[in-house]
Amino acid sequence: MSPRPIRKAVFPVAGLGTRFLPATKAMPKEMLTVLDRPIIQHVVDEAREAGIEHFVFVTGRNKGVIEDHFDRQVELEMTLRERGKAAELAMLEELLPGPGSTSFTRQQAALGLGHAVWCARDLVGDEPFALLLPDMLVKTPGPGCLAQMMAVYGEKGGNIVGVERVDPAEAHKFGIVDIAPGPGPVWPIRAMVEKPAPGEAPSDLYIMGRYILQPEIFDILSGQEAGAGGEIQITDAMRQLMTSQEFYAFAHDGRTFDCGSKVGFVAANIGFGLADDAVAGDLRREIAGLLAEADEVGRT
Ligand code: UTP
Repeated sequence: MSPRPIRKAVFPVAGLGTRFLPATKAMPKEMLTVLDRPIIQHVVDEAREAGIEHFVFVTGRNKGVIEDHFDRQVELEMTLRERGKAAELAMLEELLPGPGSTSFTRQQAALGLGHAVWCARDLVGDEPFALLLPDMLVKTPGPGCLAQMMAVYGEKGGNIVGVERVDPAEAHKFGIVDIAPGPGPVWPIRAMVEKPAPGEAPSDLYIMGRYILQPEIFDILSGQEAGAGGEIQITDAMRQLMTSQEFYAFAHDGRTFDCGSKVGFVAANIGFGLADDAVAGDLRREIAGLLAEADEVGRT
């Protein structure tokens, strides 16, 4: 029997983005731009490419602009039309989610990622769903990360957790999976550890912000207490669901940029820029020039 289809994706966008203050004082972190579009647009595009039909956003105060971004801007469209900007108009049209295909709910207090996901329970209902952390941007050579995970889900069913190799010296900053031995890129998960103590990570595979989850996760989240950092953690809920359901780790073939950190955000702009033929050549020259200048300053 083939597994139940994944139609809906959840995007938790209610965090405070404190690492990006003051940029995030009045503007959501998810609206910071990587190359030519907000981070959240990149992630919604990834979900659309994977066949997602309904986009559920868990928002908070100061996040209204995200809702506006996924709506028509009638005055802007009129002006573009008057000025004959057909290409720009077509691009906006292409990026617009279909009518009725977005839902927005509020997480009234940023109590953690697990709590944000739980806030989407009524909008998702009793069906498996995708969960995408919008500040984790994935650049892949071919099909996007979620599309790759959907293919794995089609074969395996159960719950799929996207993973990527991490420098073992950095593993204590992430959720790490313990996997059954095998060649990969799909492995049964034996355990998950949130931010293991240095040197105690069970593998070098970190959970990079893409999940396919069964709806029973919501029942577990309903009774969930705060975990590490005083927040309600999705990893704790997944660990509990693992006692009754299959969980697989899947290593996609791309590279993830953590746009919640300054270095990851800048690296994402460079990475996506270098992959864009329209800007790659000039960008390479700029980077080379900046590096040469920085080296020169370092020598004097
Ligand atoms: P982060 O852990 O990066 O937290 O959340 P944050 O608040 O956005 O940023 P910092 O750490 O203060 O700088 C990962 C994703 O989960 C969402 C965030 O919006 C982000 O997209 N999130 C986090 C919520 O929706 N609600 C929460 O309570 C926590």
